[in-house]
Amino acid sequence: MAAFDKIEGLSDDLKLVDVYVDEYLRDESGHTALRSVLNTITTGGGKKVRPLVLLLSGRFGPKWPKCRDQLCKMGATVEMIHTASLIHDDIVDDSPLRRGRPTVQSKFGKEMAVYAGDFVLSRIVFYLFKEASIEAGMLLAKTVESMCYGEIGQYAHAYDTKVTVEDYLSNIFGKTASLFVAACGIGAMESGCGEKTSMILRQVGEHIGYLFQLRDDLLNIISTGDREGKPVHSDFINGTYTLPILHALHHPSGHRLREVIHTIGSGAAVSDCIKEEIQDILNSSRGIEFTRETIRCHAEQAGELLSSLPEGPARQGFYEILDRLTAD
Ligand code: FPP
Ligand code: MG
Repeated sequence: MAAFDKIEGLSDDLKLVDVYVDEYLRDESGHTALRSVLNTITTGGGKKVRPLVLLLSGRFGPKWPKCRDQLCKMGATVEMIHTASLIHDDIVDDSPLRRGRPTVQSKFGKEMAVYAGDFVLSRIVFYLFKEASIEAGMLLAKTVESMCYGEIGQYAHAYDTKVTVEDYLSNIFGKTASLFVAACGIGAMESGCGEKTSMILRQVGEHIGYLFQLRDDLLNIISTGDREGKPVHSDFINGTYTLPILHALHHPSGHRLREVIHTIGSGAAVSDCIKEEIQDILNSSRGIEFTRETIRCHAEQAGELLSSLPEGPARQGFYEILDRLTAD
């Protein structure tokens, strides 16, 4: 976070986001199990990228810095939506680890993880009403709806070799980009940005969201070992065909990849030999280069949009995010 430290007050704002997350998720029931789960969630150490884009967006409007506290509250809400979605995602994926730590579902059981995700959602709704953020509340409800569509779309296409790039992009918009759009939109709204600035910020959020998921998907293919507890090629093994794979499937040599998919069947362990074969197919179809190019393209478009916004630390902060997400 070193470069962000240079942005006046930003690290204090991010700390305040954490304070609100802790406050919003405090246990009032006395259930020991719930208390342990909440303790795990609030000390999980996420990167807080979504609150970050919200806080940066909130520096472009005339209400800044008066709206500072409200931005931190909304940042906490957005982070909690992300947290709830990951708790549920880990149940669906049966993931043992997240960010290198045991997931809620592996540590406390699937039942407790379902309840914990629901509990976090209930607190989000409560605090959105309490802070009288009706517009932000409606926007976030619609965003969770989009996230569900993205996940359902991905699930519906599991192991489907006919899934299109458009299907994939629509799913990653829903599951990931939509929350970035909402975060930037809420920052703009709370700080009183005009419609033009707000639209630019939402579009920047959309590009960041796309490249965030594209990068995550790419790293699952090119990493040399487990990444944050997620084994290399686990998306492919679990039937989620991401952009490098889709590019290869639609390449003239796509039949080779279809054969590999047919051979391994669903959810089966994949030998090193098959992994090498996948890598070979990806190399010849240039699926990895194509994905890197797509990532660059989103970063460039976000950069261009940002160039029409006033120069200053907030804009610099966005450029820094883009640099980090395109660094590897
Ligand atoms: C992780 O993606 C998952 C998401 C980005 C979204 C999950 C969304 C839902 C479960 C629906 C919304 C639900 C709630 C409770 C708000 P990934 O599996 O590609 O990434 P990973 O490698 O981090 O697991
Ligand atoms: Mg997952």
